[in-house]
Amino acid sequence: MDDQFARDIMHGLSSTPKYLSSKYFYDKQGDLLFQKIMNLEEYYLTRCEYEIFQNQKDQLLQQFSKDTCPFDLIEFGAGDGKKTKVLLEYFLQQGADFSYKPIDISRNALELLAKDLRKSLPGLDLETLQGEYFDVLSHAKSEPNRRKVVLFLGSNIGNFLKPVAVKFLSQLANSLSQKDLLLIGVDLVKDPKTIARAYNDSQGITREFNLNLLTRINRDLGADFDLDNFDHFPIYNPITGTARSFLISRAKQTVSIERLNASFHFEAWEPVHTEYSHKYRIDELAGLADESGFKVVNNYFDSKMNFVDCLWQLDD
Ligand code: AVJ
Repeated sequence: MDDQFARDIMHGLSSTPKYLSSKYFYDKQGDLLFQKIMNLEEYYLTRCEYEIFQNQKDQLLQQFSKDTCPFDLIEFGAGDGKKTKVLLEYFLQQGADFSYKPIDISRNALELLAKDLRKSLPGLDLETLQGEYFDVLSHAKSEPNRRKVVLFLGSNIGNFLKPVAVKFLSQLANSLSQKDLLLIGVDLVKDPKTIARAYNDSQGITREFNLNLLTRINRDLGADFDLDNFDHFPIYNPITGTARSFLISRAKQTVSIERLNASFHFEAWEPVHTEYSHKYRIDELAGLADESGFKVVNNYFDSKMNFVDCLWQLDD
């Protein structure tokens, strides 16, 4: 993991154009900043999905427990699990036969989540799984009499551009069986001003979140990034539907990274790409399902049609 981090940073900063992977945003400080982002007025995504769960938890439970099959809710990148809690609480209340298995790469996030759930939902059958999604999923033993319901929420899928998303979802399809389900939360194309604001909030939290990646590299790899010399620059392209974030080098400068035994040169105004947050049109999503080996069971929207939770199963 640590080695992978070093290799990825080395590769990203040696590339033209330079890039850093958004999966490295989520250290302790990054987890905290993302929680702050989810509470921002401008970051509508979390509230939309929350509303969908509040309003449609009963329909979701009916689908998950179809044919009175007990189910395992396996959540990819659970984070603080605030939205999922709406479902967990309701399912318990209804006496559903299910377990909750959050998977996260952040041990810290999982520990906080487990602590919270043990306290607030003591009756919950809970097993936390630390690691990369597929490593963990392939270890999750397949129990013939239980349905896997994979949750991939919050538009995390948007961090991949479409071809990578197809690859990822196809791989997921390969590890599921016919009765299993996938609930995937996706941010939809909308007024570009609304999207642009969500990634450039007025309090500067998203800016801090983006720059925190440099703080992490300073700490974990012994680098000397001067954060004052870099700027947060997000931009949404309504033609492609992709919001992208960059760190812009404000001056010609050289940064050395001790643990990589390397230094990197930045031109004035040179961009470092850090994140994709792709938005889909609803009609594109049926195609995405199809290309990945899934078919659409149902779509659940918020009242403003800003966001969708798609329920998919394997295509037969
Ligand atoms: C957690 C990947 C869904 O892309 O909207 C929030 C992360 N980045 N603000 C997103 C994020 C900047 C978020 N995801």
